[in-house]
This record gives sequence, C-alpha cells and structure tokens, in this order.
Amino acid sequence: MTYTQLVRPEVLTQPVYEPGRPIEEVARDFGLDPDGILKLASNENPLGPSPLGIKAARRALEEAHLYPDGGCYALRQKLAEIRGVQPSELLIGNGSNEIMVLLCQALLKPGDEVVMGAQSFIAMKLSTMMFGATPVEVPMPGLSHDLDTLAAAVTDKTRIVYLPSPNNPTGDSHSQADIEALINKLPEDVVFLFDEAYAEYMENPPDLRPLIKAGKKVVCTRTFSKIYGLAAFRIGYAYGDAELMGLLGRIRQPFNVNAIAQAAATAALGDEMHVAKSRAVNTAGQAHLACIFKKLGLEYVPSEANFVLLKVENSRRIFEVLQSMGVIIRPLNVYQLPNYVRISVGTEPENDRLGECLEKILAGPEASILLPGATAPQQ
Ligand SMILES: Cc1ncc(COP(=O)(O)O)c(C=O)c1O
Repeated sequence: MTYTQLVRPEVLTQPVYEPGRPIEEVARDFGLDPDGILKLASNENPLGPSPLGIKAARRALEEAHLYPDGGCYALRQKLAEIRGVQPSELLIGNGSNEIMVLLCQALLKPGDEVVMGAQSFIAMKLSTMMFGATPVEVPMPGLSHDLDTLAAAVTDKTRIVYLPSPNNPTGDSHSQADIEALINKLPEDVVFLFDEAYAEYMENPPDLRPLIKAGKKVVCTRTFSKIYGLAAFRIGYAYGDAELMGLLGRIRQPFNVNAIAQAAATAALGDEMHVAKSRAVNTAGQAHLACIFKKLGLEYVPSEANFVLLKVENSRRIFEVLQSMGVIIRPLNVYQLPNYVRISVGTEPENDRLGECLEKILAGPEASILLPGATAPQQ
C-alpha cells in the first residue's frame, strides 16, 4: 500500500499553486546577483512594508516565546473601529487565503458547486477542489466577470459565488450597484464571497457592509499583503455576519495567526502615511507604465489594483527572457491566458527598468515574442 493509495482522491487531482518566482531562485538559475533582481511578479508593495508595522513586529519578537493571542483581540478591536463593524463580525486569517480555505472547509462537500469566473483568482478554485466540490468557471469575455452569467450559473448545488474585485489577474472591478444586483439574485442558501485584496488601492471601493447588516449571506475578505506591505507575515481578515465568523472560528487552528504578524498588522492599520504614499506611487506607476507600453506599441490592460496585464505573443518566453535580464514577472498560462503576462506596478525607476528591458527585446532577434510580426531592425 502506497501513500498515494492512502490519501483522499482530491489530493491526487489537486493542482499545485505556482507562485511568483523568488528572487534567490532566479539568481541561482541565471547566475545573477540577487540584489540586482527586480521582482514584479506577486503584486507586492514596491515601497516595502509599513514602517510602523515593522517597528511593532520588532518589539513583538521579544515575546516570541509566548503563544499568540488566538483570538487576535487587539487587531480585531482596531479593525472594528476602522471598518465600523463589531469585533465579533471579524475573523483574522493566515493570509486572506486561509479564510477562503476555512469557508470552503465549512461549507463544501463533494458534489457541491462554487461559481466563479474562468479567470478569477485561482486560490478559490484550488480551495474548492481540495474539499471535493466542483468549481463552475463561467467564461470571462473581454477579461471581465459578467455578473449576469455568474448569477445564471447558480444551481441547487451552488454553495458559494466568488467575486474578486478588482480581480487578479484580469484587473476587472465592478460597481456597487452591479454587485448588489448580483447578490439580490442569489438564493438564501448561497454565500457570496467578495474578495477585496486590492480595495485599498481604489478611490471608491464598493461597500457591502449594509448588505451584511441587512442579513444577506455576504462575506468580504481583505489582506495586509498588498498596500500594507506585509505579505511575508501572512495575515488577512474577513468581515461578515457574526454567526458565520464564529463558525469559521471553530475550525481554524487555535493559533492560526502568529503574534509578530498580529502586532505588525495592528500598527500598520494606523500607518496612514504609508498607505497614502503606496496608493500615490501606484496611481503614478499605472500612468507611467501606460506611457511606456503606448510608446512601445504594446497592448495592455490597466487596473485599479497594483498590477497590469500586458499582451504578448509568447508569455512563457517573455517570462524566461525577462528573467535572464533580472526582471521577474508572471506568465498566465495557468489562467488559460497564454498571450498575457501580469506585471506588478513598481516604483518609477523600477518601471523604467522594465520599459528598458522590453525595448531591448523589441530591438533584438526575439522581438516577435513580445509583439506579433515585429522584427529586429536590420543592422
Ligand atoms: C485577489 C486576491 N485575493 C487574495 C489573495 C491572497 O492574499 P493573502 O496574501 O492575504 O493570502 C491575493 C494574492 O495575491 C489576491 O490577488
């Protein structure tokens, strides 16, 4: 009897999440100096972590011999104040990713369905499959969720409808009115999961709190990985009905969020300067990248989040070539988008460096991997 024969069947069919390649790994593979590598592959904050968050994390390290507060009291108090909800309406997770998993663990059994877009952030599909349920992936023509199609895909078997807005990787975001209309179409036994990982980058993110208060089955997730720059700590949260938060709280591990992350996140919430600066750098970076792509004659899809999609001819090859030049981006084959790469918005010099690399590719023998029909100028 082998271990493969012993595990649940879902383990064998579970696709493996392919993260952005780490700097050290690319440095090893290409014989490059890690300090010179630019990572624009995981939608991280190019300004780094919240300085107030890091200061608090350093202090918390001194107490690393103690178990964390499993209930994340201080962070929930602060979040409750800022988000205008009750502490009981909050759940803190080991990244918002953990909350997706908890929701699936709590709600799904084999045969159930989760409705999502074909290019919705892939973590939800993976969580769905892990519990033997079926992801129902509706097509996203124009690289945007069609909310009517999502509603139309709901059946008696549907337990969750998932909408990230802005979505990663397509960047599409949806208005309050359209999202409300979708929620109002859902049956009472379907939970709407609204993933707001990039909400802090938006000027006017939708606010689903009134729907939660009105008793709609809505749960929202946010993260400290993006604008707060705390991706390495793995911390995110959900807000929703207190009954659901309590039920999810029952199945989380007793100490799912470490004390250093809790301290960092609590302090980062008050770091308005870092948030404002990060938002401003991102807005400027989106405009800057748009200029670069236009100048080079490249097609792109902007977003209200901290990344863009760039249309290319051969995404795998662009990914390889850029890596050899010390720039890591993300190919999107796993999303069935072989003609797009996702690029995180960097600082001004970082965006310039990416632009210079693209320009070099266009001027070289492999120009056509970026732009169909492009040929290098004759020497
Ligand atoms: C749309 C979306 N949701 C959730 C996450 C997961 O974030 P976390 O780091 O909080 O697990 C990401 C990460 O890239 C994301 O893009």
